[in-house]
Amino acid sequence: MNYKKALSHPIFKIISDSGKELQLESFVIGGFVRDYILNRGDAKDIDVVAIGDGIKLAKQVAKNLPTFPKVQIFKTYGTAMLRYDDIEIEFVGARKESYTEDSRNPAVENGSLEDDQNRRDFTINALALNLNEKSFGELLDPFNGIEDLNNKIIRTPLNPDITYSDDPLRMLRAIRFATQLNFIIEEASLKSITKNSHRIKIISKERVVTEINKILESNTPSIGFLLLEKTGLLEYILPELIALKGIDEVEGQRHKDNFYHTLEVVDNISKHTTDLWLRWAALLHDIGKAPTKKFNKKIGWTFHAHEFEGSKMVYRLFKRLKMPLNDKMKFVQKMVLMSSRPIVLAQDLVTDSAVRRLVFDAGNHVEDLMTLCEADITTKNPRKFKKYHNNFKIVRDKIIEVEERDHVRNFQPPISGEEIMKTFNLKPSREIGLIKEYIKEAILEGDIPNEHEAAYQLMIEKGKKLGLSISTK
Ligand code: CTP
Repeated sequence: MNYKKALSHPIFKIISDSGKELQLESFVIGGFVRDYILNRGDAKDIDVVAIGDGIKLAKQVAKNLPTFPKVQIFKTYGTAMLRYDDIEIEFVGARKESYTEDSRNPAVENGSLEDDQNRRDFTINALALNLNEKSFGELLDPFNGIEDLNNKIIRTPLNPDITYSDDPLRMLRAIRFATQLNFIIEEASLKSITKNSHRIKIISKERVVTEINKILESNTPSIGFLLLEKTGLLEYILPELIALKGIDEVEGQRHKDNFYHTLEVVDNISKHTTDLWLRWAALLHDIGKAPTKKFNKKIGWTFHAHEFEGSKMVYRLFKRLKMPLNDKMKFVQKMVLMSSRPIVLAQDLVTDSAVRRLVFDAGNHVEDLMTLCEADITTKNPRKFKKYHNNFKIVRDKIIEVEERDHVRNFQPPISGEEIMKTFNLKPSREIGLIKEYIKEAILEGDIPNEHEAAYQLMIEKGKKLGLSISTK
């Protein structure tokens, strides 16, 4: 079969001509070919293999392009990259590779196209299209990658033990592709990943997190997390989740399996948000349950203050995985810390003051928090399921209503500290804080509206109670 159509972008003809000028053959390989056949939209990354010097080919292509793009050279890897339009093109010379035991960095030797395809991760990623004039668009598929694409199978070109121990990151890539594409990992591969899972330790945290993020960004992230658990990889990457596994029973009382519950929550939330960090919050919302779990004869299983413990664990987890310790991390912490608040609301009568407090504490993240809590409803009891969702609907409506009336989101006190000092002729002191807190509480409780006049009266009242006299100045 000929795939000329895949190569209709003018860049391919330019690469082809540049190769001809250098008397060197070239091929498009990997993700571009795979995604074209799977019809996964226009790829923005193109990988080109040259039989010979890949860097030289990149330089020649740059010369022949009207934009004369800059060629970025990565000497250690023998690769070069340039940008044209919004496409990133990476060039590499075909290689035979052998990796050392303790590192991902290969020792490189020049090779043929077949050598290069051999050393790729999966048969579906080893598909190549010929760029040479005479065979332009011809598919080279030595491992039946097309068949695997059709049958939705992830398989390694070589014995999986070799492919995975050559580069252990591929174990995660296999699971990531299985999740993104909804493919099955071939049995021998799965066994090999299980056997080699400990080798993930030599991979940098940043690369691991990139793959975990891609799994989390898929339509059904649980596919990936179940595979990570089954193969033993999860224990090395996110042991906090493994600790949630299992159901304990004491005196006939059981709690739910919080690992499978968590995965259900992540799948649920993924139907309502593409925000990676909100998905992280769903993944981590219950991690505090493992260290806080206790059995109490009277009330059964408890997870006292697990949200607080969980939010502290988020920091340690992000730090360990070298994830950003910035506002994204703080957002995840806040979601975990507040993750039970709306649920408590939804179980009871929804009062205005409880909603006002929720909006006050969650600020601009209140909608995200609601999305998380709705995803957290995994009860199999249809009556409860309906009741909680109905109550959340009431909470959401009340949030809008309370917002319009009371403006407590990003709350600005209607009376400033300065005004209090002036009114009672005070220097900075404890009383100012007490009065401000008193006014804030009254607003949140709904005793007074969030307005200056009402707050002013309350300030006078409270000041008197504190024995302060009004300034006559
Ligand atoms: N590759 C590999 N082993 C790796 C990483 C990459 O064999 N650990 C090969 C595969 O042939 C892959 C190609 O290099 O197709 C390009 O890698 P990359 O850009 O990381 O992945 P893509 O397959 O393009 O997929 P995606 O863009 O979704 O990551």
